[in-house]
Amino acid sequence: MSITLTMLKPDAVADGYTGKIIDQIIQAGFKIQAMKLTRLSREKAEEFYSVHRERSFFGELIDFMTEGPIVAAVLEKDNAVEDFRKLIGATNPEKAEVGTIRKSFAKNIERNAIHGSDSDENAELEAKFHFSGLEIF
Ligand code: RTP
Ligand code: MG
Repeated sequence: MSITLTMLKPDAVADGYTGKIIDQIIQAGFKIQAMKLTRLSREKAEEFYSVHRERSFFGELIDFMTEGPIVAAVLEKDNAVEDFRKLIGATNPEKAEVGTIRKSFAKNIERNAIHGSDSDENAELEAKFHFSGLEIF
């Protein structure tokens, strides 16, 4: 078994898609190890997405990710990182396959509803970023 870290982004939470998205994640075979409604400060958002610091979209990404509450969760499954990225679909919803979470719920390449870790190593780091050991089951 391995884990991945997801965030339902501020657009998805504000638009009322939290329940539908979590149901789709559970139906796809992921087990919830940790989950909370929270809001990123600018400092924490900049830290989370620091790999993109030099990109042209960084400022807009931080504005977006701090505009309202998110749902953060640790998810367990075998092959969790890769299977979850398949479930959420391409970064740009126009390129995402039908049935993926981004195809169903994302508005555009930036306001794209959901995050998924991109490696096992980052999944572990991102889980610790959002949750203490006592909050992960
Ligand atoms: P994420 O990290 O959120 O799961 O998304 P990802 O791996 O599919 O995409 P990544 O390249 O890591 O980009 C992180 C987030 O930045 C926003 N973005 N905006 N305006 C743009 O061209 C652009 N490109 C990326 C998206 O919110 C993307 O998910
Ligand atoms: Mg990414």
